[in-house]
Amino acid sequence: MPETSTAPASDAAGASVDLRRIHHIELWVGNARQAAYFYRTCFGFDQVAYMGPETGVHDRASYCLKQGDVFFVLSSPLHHLSPMNIWLNCHGDGVRDLAFEVGNVDQSFAAAVAKGATPVQEPHDMEARDGAIRRASVRTYGDTVHSFIERGGYEGFLPGYALDSVRGSNVGIHCVDHVVGNVEHRRMQSWCDFYEQVFDFSQFVHYDDDDICTDFTALRSKVMADDDRKIMFPINEPASGKKKSQIQEYIDFNMTAGVQHVALKTDNILETIANLRENGAEFLDVPDSYYESVWDRVGDIDEDRDKVRDLKILVDRDEKGYLLQLFTRPLQDRPTFFMEIIQRCGSDSFGKGNFQALFEAIEREQDKRGHL
Ligand code: FE2
Repeated sequence: MPETSTAPASDAAGASVDLRRIHHIELWVGNARQAAYFYRTCFGFDQVAYMGPETGVHDRASYCLKQGDVFFVLSSPLHHLSPMNIWLNCHGDGVRDLAFEVGNVDQSFAAAVAKGATPVQEPHDMEARDGAIRRASVRTYGDTVHSFIERGGYEGFLPGYALDSVRGSNVGIHCVDHVVGNVEHRRMQSWCDFYEQVFDFSQFVHYDDDDICTDFTALRSKVMADDDRKIMFPINEPASGKKKSQIQEYIDFNMTAGVQHVALKTDNILETIANLRENGAEFLDVPDSYYESVWDRVGDIDEDRDKVRDLKILVDRDEKGYLLQLFTRPLQDRPTFFMEIIQRCGSDSFGKGNFQALFEAIEREQDKRGHL
């Protein structure tokens, strides 16, 4: 797409990054056309926009998928010399960009850089016949970036994309609940400080290795969030256990820190999980023994307990209410990125009570791969 470098001097370095929402999540993948088919048929996304040679872009193909307010972009390089290949060689399919819509790109970029963020792309215009947006990006953990996008009334997805209309069968996903990053041993605090300093996030919850620990593996986690908790970014680091932490396994295969999972919210998890299972989505196996004690722990819920058990959905309760959740297996062969489906019924936590059952299930899979 045409890009013109027109970065004006900004006097906004003292201002803040005015995040409005997660605009989209971009994954770099080995074969975007096939990945788009997978996310449409398995997860029910509609393919709403496309960018590639047919739209005048000759170095990559990008497919924009939408369900509810969730936008994913899947991109692949078209030539062997593309720098995207180095990224893919190191990390495999995974999240490259957690892109935010901001009110003012120049001000947000200047503020982020002044507060310690490393620039990736200076503010520039992205133009097409139907209008323009302004965009910039900064680094976050691993080889992941945050783009800032100022839409300025632009009506399409992004300039350079043509409208597409390949329907998926909606499974009831309506927004991103949270995005979890895995960072290296003893780097959790510095990345939490980064989100506090650069984005004015604050710490919402903290789990230590006593909360998240099995016989073999352990991790620590802090949840950073914006003021109204519309953007929630838990950050995990491995802790020492008898054997390798699942977070360390991720880092070994991703070669660095990166996005571990995206949690997608539904209002009817029974229907969503039933549809996803029907579509062939693979979830972490929950042991039958989990349901022998779960109701003592969480008490009454509105959903049919038998259906929750049959669909192998996890349940947890905090002082504000309860939540239902389930995690997919990794979505590519490397044991890296996966998805979570979550329904919140008052609860604003992350399923701490499920950690034990969940991590034991993850470890069984890790053991099968010979990485424990
Ligand atoms: Fe999660």
